[in-house]
Parts: sequence; C-alpha cells; structure tokens
Amino acid sequence: MSMKRVLSGIQPSGRLHIGNLVGALQNWVKLQDQYECYYFIADWHALTSQYADTSRLKEYVRDVLVNCLAAGLDPGKSTVFAQSRVPEHAELHVLLSMITPLPWLERVPTYKEKQSEVKGRDLNTYGFLGYPLLQSADILVYKADYVPVGVDQMPHLEITREIGRRFNHFYGNVFPEPEALLTDFPKVVGTDGRKMSKTYDNCIFLSDSPEEVERKIRTMTTDPQRIKRTDRGDPALSPVFHLHRVFSAKEEQDEVAEGCRTAAIGCIDCKKILIRNLFRLLEPIWEKRDTLLQKPAMLEDIVESGSAKARETASQTMHEAREAIGLGLPC
Ligand code: TRP
Repeated sequence: MSMKRVLSGIQPSGRLHIGNLVGALQNWVKLQDQYECYYFIADWHALTSQYADTSRLKEYVRDVLVNCLAAGLDPGKSTVFAQSRVPEHAELHVLLSMITPLPWLERVPTYKEKQSEVKGRDLNTYGFLGYPLLQSADILVYKADYVPVGVDQMPHLEITREIGRRFNHFYGNVFPEPEALLTDFPKVVGTDGRKMSKTYDNCIFLSDSPEEVERKIRTMTTDPQRIKRTDRGDPALSPVFHLHRVFSAKEEQDEVAEGCRTAAIGCIDCKKILIRNLFRLLEPIWEKRDTLLQKPAMLEDIVESGSAKARETASQTMHEAREAIGLGLPC
C-alpha cells in the first residue's frame, strides 16, 4: 500500500510568525502521520523578490528550519529539505519554461498584485515572472498528490495543473494532477489589527522572547471607543479579541467578550489572559528551539539527509521527463 504524497514549501523571506504557525505549520505537522510528506525551504523563491539584499537570507533559512522542527516537523517522518540543494527543481523549471506560454504567467493574479504592492524593489524580472512556474516544478518533480496551501496560492496550483497537462499532451503521461489541501485556516491579525504580515511590521514572531511577546500584546490597541476602564467595549472592534478567537478556548473567548461588553474586565485583564494562552502554546516551541539552536551540526545534517532523500525521488521523475522529451545521447 503506498501512501499519498504531500508536498509544501515555505519561503524564507522573513522570520516565521504566529500566523504561519496556525496557518500552515500546525497543519503540516498533522499531515505527517497520514501521508508521505515532503516539506522544504523555498530559498530560490525568496530570491525572486529579494535578490538585491541577501544579507539576512541565511538567518531566515535557519529561523524557518528551526521553528518548523520546534513546532513538530519530524525528520523521522517527513522529508525536510532545502530547495536549492535539489537541483532537479531547476532542471524541471527550465524544461517547463520551454512549453509555458508567456500569457499564462502574466495573467497569474499574484504577479501584477505583488508588483504594484511591493515598493522600492524592482520586480520586473524574469525570475519573478517565473515564480509560479518554479513552484510548479517544485510540485511536479515529486508527483505530489496534495499540496497544503492557503487560498492565496490557488492560482499557482491551477497553473501547475495546466502546465503538467501540457507537458503530458506533448510528451506523454509523466505528471499526475496535484490537488490543493485547503484547510480552514484561522485568519490571524497583527498587533495593529491588519492581517499579520511582515510587510506591515505587525508580527509576533516565533523567535520573539517571552518579554517581547508580552510587550507587543500589552501595547496593542483595543476597541478605540473604550477609553476609560468603566466604558463598555465592543470585542468585535478589538484586535486583541481577534487573537483570542484563535488562541483562547471557546469558553474563555465568551467570558472575555462578555467582560468587555459589560466593563466587568479591563483591557489589561483581557490582554493578560491572551498572553497566558500564547505562552502556553509557545513555551514548548521555545524550549525545543533553544535545544536545536545549540546543535548547528545536527541542523545541517537534517537538511543534508532530507535533501539527499528528496533528490532520489526528484531524479527519478527527471529521468522519466528527459526520456519522454527525447533528451540524451542517441545511443
Ligand atoms: N509560494 C508559496 C508561498 O508563498 C511557497 C512555495 C514555493 C510552495 N513552492 C511551493 C508551496 C510548492 C507549496 C508547494 O507560500
């Protein structure tokens, strides 16, 4: 009996935050027991938009790796690796580029969106246009069945299927069609009430110290109309309550909401409860991370052997792809 294969990647374009933890990592950890999982650090993808300043790339790669492991990714169950250590991704990318009509890439919604959203960086590059195609290569080179991603990634999955189909049409059946594994991810707001994102500088990072986490929560805004302690508040207007929705148990959410509406509790009380619940979630991760950070050789080892394992699978696919196209010596 062969298990279905899951693949997903994460870009080391910054430090991981608690939104990444509940939005992706916790789900990845769960999938490990049901599927044959491949999880990787998409360092080439980070370069597509951050090629001009790579000064923190290594730091981010380490942060992503360490926090993934601390959150429960288990190299004994899953293949954990780095994209740039599996050159087969690049080889498939170049082969796919031959059959990819430019308009397919130009019409991917994230392309124009991000280009206009990101200021101060020139994203008018070949690599950035090819971002979704590189992602297609990531997925197809493992013949993944399922790809756990957020809705924002759906266009990339769609183009992956289309490109796989086109390859199969020209050269014969090599690639199965991958499916998204869409889970109902809770939306995590940042300290300013907008979506938690490094672009907004409103993140609670997994690498923040307990003191930093506490300070960030304590200085968050709440219902702007609740000025005095005796004022009644509206939890729906408070970013702190939004975080309770994700990080506190249902009962406690109800208590806090009721306390806010009736002015039975103050904003500080409400924040203290949130801090306690966040600490309960993060403490085991912090502990594990500290142990891992003391063993850089072991981290190197995990990525080395994960990448070697990934290459075995990827090179089989590449053999088939080359044969299907008719590459190689004529003997
Ligand atoms: N584009 C994905 C993101 O930003 C990261 C990624 C790169 C990925 N390659 C992938 C995700 C392959 C799933 C499969 O989140």
